[in-house]
Amino acid sequence: MSSDFASEMLAEHYDAVSALWQATEGLGDTETREEFCRYLSRNPGISSVVSHDGRIIGALLGGHDGRRGYLYHLAVAADHRGAGVATALIGRCLDQLQRLQIQRCSLHVYRANATAVEFWSHQQWRERCDLKLFAVDLPRR
Ligand SMILES: CC(C)(COP(=O)(O)OP(=O)(O)OC[C@H]1O[C@@H](n2cnc3c(N)ncnc32)[C@H](O)[C@@H]1OP(=O)(O)O)[C@@H](O)C(=O)NCCC(=O)NCCS
Repeated sequence: MSSDFASEMLAEHYDAVSALWQATEGLGDTETREEFCRYLSRNPGISSVVSHDGRIIGALLGGHDGRRGYLYHLAVAADHRGAGVATALIGRCLDQLQRLQIQRCSLHVYRANATAVEFWSHQQWRERCDLKLFAVDLPRR
C-alpha cells in the first residue's frame, strides 16, 4: 500500500483515533483531546491516518522540533494488519518531514513490546544502542 492511501490526521479524528489506540496493545499513555489538538496544531499536516469504509484503521502521530522528526503511537486495527497500512502511514509521515527539510526521524518503543522492536528492525530503522533516554515529569500548573 503506497503512502497515497494515507491522509492527514485532523482534530476531528480524535474520537476514532483514540478508540483505535485504546484497542491496540503495546502503546503507552496516549493524549487527551486537548493534547492531541495541540500536537496537531504545532505540527500541521504530518500526522496521518488510513481509513477503510469510513472507519479509521491506522494512525500515526508525527512531528518535529525544527531539527529532528519524531513518530508516536503507530497503530493498525487488528483486522487490517499485514496489508501495508503501517507502511503507508510511515511513508506519508516521513514524506511530510522530508518536505520540511528534516533529515532524521526517531521514535521510542517499549522494550517489552516485542512486536514493535521486531517491526521497526524489519523496517531497517537503526536501534540507537549508544543513547540512554532520560525523562522528568513536570507537575501541571
Ligand atoms: C506493528 C504494526 C503497526 C504493523 O502494521 P501492519 O499494517 O500490519 O504493517 P505492514 O503491513 O505495513 O507491514 C510492513 C512490513 O513489516 C512487516 N511486519 C509487519 N508486522 C511485523 C511484525 N510484527 N514483526 C516484524 N515484521 C512485521 C511486514 O511483513 C511488512 O514487511 P515487507 O515490507 O517486507 O513486506 C501493527 O501490527 C500494530 O498496530 N501492532 C500493535 C501496535 C504496535 O506495537 N505499534 C508499534 C509501537 S510504536
